[in-house]
Amino acid sequence: MQEMLNYIDGKWVPSRTRRTDENRNPADRDEVVGTFQASSAEDADDAVAAAKRAYASWRLVPAPKRAEYLFKVGAILTAHKEAFARDMTREMGKVLSETRGDVQEGIDTAFLAGGEGRRLFGDTVPCELPSKAGWSERHPIGVCGLITPWNFPMAIPTWKLFPALVCGNTAVLKPASDTPLSVINLVKACEEAGIPPGVVNVVTGDGRSVGGRLVDHPDVRVISFTGSSEVGRHLAQVCGKSLKRLSLELGGKNAQIVLEDADLDLALDGVLWGAFGTAGQRCTATSRLILHRPIKQRFLEMLVERVKTLKLGNGLDESVQVGPMVSASQRESVHRYVEIGKREDGARLVHGGEFYTRGACEKGWFYTPTIFDGVTRPMRIAREEIFGPVLAVLEARDLDDAIATLNDTDYGLSSSIYTRDVNHAFRAIRDIEAGITYVNGPTIGAEVQLPFGGVKDTGNGHREASHTVLDVFTEWKSVYVDYSGRLQRAQIDTESASG
Ligand code: UN1
Repeated sequence: MQEMLNYIDGKWVPSRTRRTDENRNPADRDEVVGTFQASSAEDADDAVAAAKRAYASWRLVPAPKRAEYLFKVGAILTAHKEAFARDMTREMGKVLSETRGDVQEGIDTAFLAGGEGRRLFGDTVPCELPSKAGWSERHPIGVCGLITPWNFPMAIPTWKLFPALVCGNTAVLKPASDTPLSVINLVKACEEAGIPPGVVNVVTGDGRSVGGRLVDHPDVRVISFTGSSEVGRHLAQVCGKSLKRLSLELGGKNAQIVLEDADLDLALDGVLWGAFGTAGQRCTATSRLILHRPIKQRFLEMLVERVKTLKLGNGLDESVQVGPMVSASQRESVHRYVEIGKREDGARLVHGGEFYTRGACEKGWFYTPTIFDGVTRPMRIAREEIFGPVLAVLEARDLDDAIATLNDTDYGLSSSIYTRDVNHAFRAIRDIEAGITYVNGPTIGAEVQLPFGGVKDTGNGHREASHTVLDVFTEWKSVYVDYSGRLQRAQIDTESASG
């Protein structure tokens, strides 16, 4: 079994604490995946100091050259894709086809962000005065603290790291305690690509000591965080005090609407994948299903039939469709919501609602895919993020009622509508309050070339992925060059009063 070290200033080093944490396979608690540094705030300080030193020269490397490193990282991730996917399944539990997809999302992000090395567009505009030029350009900000979740252990770190780097920033990564190995694999790829020491650093450990220090540290200029709305709110308060830039990607309570005119088989495939893929552990997961009254009963029966056929097990087995919860505590928290749901007046548990312990699954944190019927808008299982394989079924009278139900949540990340009527589809696109709307597709499966993020309590207005993420990692500078050789006063200073 390997002991994983921190990566600071281009060297693999133990924590100053000399303590480590064990990471176990959630599909088999007997298997130790590795040990990781249980780091302290001082380790974070070391990493920030290294990143600050490296920033002085990295910001001056031309962006197309910085991008060349990212293209190399993309190629290295491609070469190691299978091995990294297997490591990820062992540490996080999701099935191999999904962990391959997670690494692939990192590869796509490397090439997308790398392409920005030859773009990073600003605006060139005409000036009001003769012999004067004006344009805007993006400048890097400095050291970025990147605090990343366990459900997309490699993809989400790359969403943050690669754009930060191509813009000329340096970074300290703090991976989720449940999934440090995937971030270490990513950082090894950065090392192999020859990214200079100090530009990328990783410090493993718990959120309070390491993440907390990054958020507090005066030399960290940007924090990018993906996780719960509760932690996000706290970070916003801390960062607000020092006016530190903060990009938040938080919870979701995503819904799929199925109208009477939909292709029901297609909608069924969609909700099975959206609700139970990744065992429901995506911030984009479908956790509410809003069914149009005329098809409700029929669709629910079809759904319950199909959910019974889902195969649970160790994600390394290619025939398995649903892996375990990431940890014992995550499973407990999902189960607590199921207990709450069972007590809600009118809600009816129609499938699941228990630990799944058949055969070898007994050794892991498996939870049976769960469906509640009869759910209404005020119920907690209709409002709060559960982050597990629990689907709440609600009924709607018509399109307006369906959209109002979908919007009746504090969150606004992903959404979906199944309909064959183009007018219904466009009304949904217009009226749904969410950062992402799918028509005839499930709530999961965003592509990296479009903005990713949400409205309301899902975030604070930033978007990851696409070119929109560049706004997180750059400051704008407006440049004016006066080549007239004389003092020209701008119009605001020379305009005479006019009637
Ligand atoms: C998340 O849900 O936490 O859109 C991220 C998707 C993936 C990313 C999800 N590409 O489902």
